[in-house]
Amino acid sequence: MFEISKRDGLARLGKIKTNHGALDTPTLLPVVNPKILTLSMDELKECGAQGLITNSYIIYKNSELKKVAEEKGVHGLLNWDGPIMTDSGTFQSHVYGEIDMQPDEILNFQKKIGVDIGTVLDVFCEPETRFEDAKKELEETQRRIEESDKNKGSIFLAAPIQGGRHLDLRLKAAEMASQTNAEVFPIGGVVPLMEKNNFEKLAEVIIAAKKGLDISRPVHLFGCGHPMLFALASFLGCDLFDSSSYAKFASRDSLMFTWGTRNLEELEEFPSEFSAAPDITVNQLKAMEKKQRQKIIAKHNLIVSFTEIRRVKQAIHDGLLWELVENRLRTSPALMKIFSILKREMDWISEFEPAYRYKTPIKTGNESDDRPIFSKLANSFKSGDMVHPYFGKVPNHLSETYPFHPGLLQDDIEGWKMQDWNVDRVQTILDYQFGKGIGKILTKGETDLVVSRKTKRLRNLLLNGEHVASLSHRRGMFILQKKGAELIHKSSKSPKFRVIVDADTAEFNRKGKSVFCKFIEDIDSDLRCMDECIVVTPDDQLIAFGKLLVSPKELGLGQQGMAVRVRSGIKS
Ligand code: GUN
Repeated sequence: MFEISKRDGLARLGKIKTNHGALDTPTLLPVVNPKILTLSMDELKECGAQGLITNSYIIYKNSELKKVAEEKGVHGLLNWDGPIMTDSGTFQSHVYGEIDMQPDEILNFQKKIGVDIGTVLDVFCEPETRFEDAKKELEETQRRIEESDKNKGSIFLAAPIQGGRHLDLRLKAAEMASQTNAEVFPIGGVVPLMEKNNFEKLAEVIIAAKKGLDISRPVHLFGCGHPMLFALASFLGCDLFDSSSYAKFASRDSLMFTWGTRNLEELEEFPSEFSAAPDITVNQLKAMEKKQRQKIIAKHNLIVSFTEIRRVKQAIHDGLLWELVENRLRTSPALMKIFSILKREMDWISEFEPAYRYKTPIKTGNESDDRPIFSKLANSFKSGDMVHPYFGKVPNHLSETYPFHPGLLQDDIEGWKMQDWNVDRVQTILDYQFGKGIGKILTKGETDLVVSRKTKRLRNLLLNGEHVASLSHRRGMFILQKKGAELIHKSSKSPKFRVIVDADTAEFNRKGKSVFCKFIEDIDSDLRCMDECIVVTPDDQLIAFGKLLVSPKELGLGQQGMAVRVRSGIKS
């Protein structure tokens, strides 16, 4: 039900397929209170909503709403034909104390009214709850998840991850929930952290949960509706957000921006992001009748939120999410504190780093030094003819290779020059990409460098007339071809460079079919997502080569789907 099409570290672009259409993630589900419609369904759609979240408990407790929902279904009640997720009443227990509801009663109601994603009646664990109590509450939540999972019928089940502020409990909760067949994992109990601007704890809690969650399923961050958090939460691997904030903030005249919140009172001018009512001035908005004003501000809050969602998606596509997150964190002291959490968790974060990104990485400030790409490669060459502002001395031969190629730094690299193609240069790139020594191995014999006459770019590397590799111009790195894969296989020991697959499925790969995660028996843990790799059987016969689409760490966390896009199979 969840297909991932692109990754940037832990962040992903995905698609959740429901009976009422798809949710393209990351996305925001606006909260609709069926009793008070701040914006119409058409307005929600115009702002960018693909799906909604509403509360089955509120519907259940209101006899009129309940009757309509039971007759027409939740889609008929709200007059919305796209995906609808429902919450279960747990949040009401956080706000009002004990609620009068049984887990099976509210699950059955969600099934009855035909929701697309229904939520378990979990136990809301407050951040202050002590370990022993939090543990007991978690056991109860897990019992309810398991029970609901057995009885969910045809709806997707959202299984909340609780555990309060206790990171070991969050990890345990995530591991236990991942043992069930729940389709979505919301991280719960975090609203109090967001309300108190305790973003450090929020980041820690997300990370602890992600460490234990089955990574193939979507993660929802319950109650996260402020656009300043979307980039960070997506970066840490969250896929869904929900927002009642757009309406709640509007009811107190608060306008949301990616850089914070402003009360209408404080505003002398509209920031450029304000487009909800382009023809009015700040003073005209201030003078409006409350209901009309609230509607415009709610619309503004949602427009800004969905604009940020689109920006995050584009950043994932470009491989520039890290830069966006850094910029967002610098907008407030409370968010700045997250940098220290990221630094502490850098080893874990770096397990998901890709071999290259579509765009060259950019430092946005001092904290960028801690990014794996910069900390690992800074001053890693003893000598070099060009002096890169991020990496120090770099051999001229890598002047067009990721991440040393100029990108936006065209004028900032001292000594940067277009280089001619020769075997020396090819060897330097291969050594950098695959490890020292591979350059010599792939060029030992009679080499032929096929260079485009028009662009002067290297196209192919041939050895004794056989195709070893092609060069990707965008990243200045090599793409393996048959001879290259054979030489790498022959010259290295398992599991280096290898994805080892189940012998029974090897024939498919030999025919050029892609490798799926579930058939992988072992993998070189040094490989990175997007690396060139070779595919072998358990007895180390070379059967194919291609591009790895996941990180080895993800395989350990239950990733499914395509793992290696096979470029070509190798016949026995
Ligand atoms: N909405 C906000 N937080 C929570 C939570 O922890 N559980 C549920 N079910 N809904 C929420």
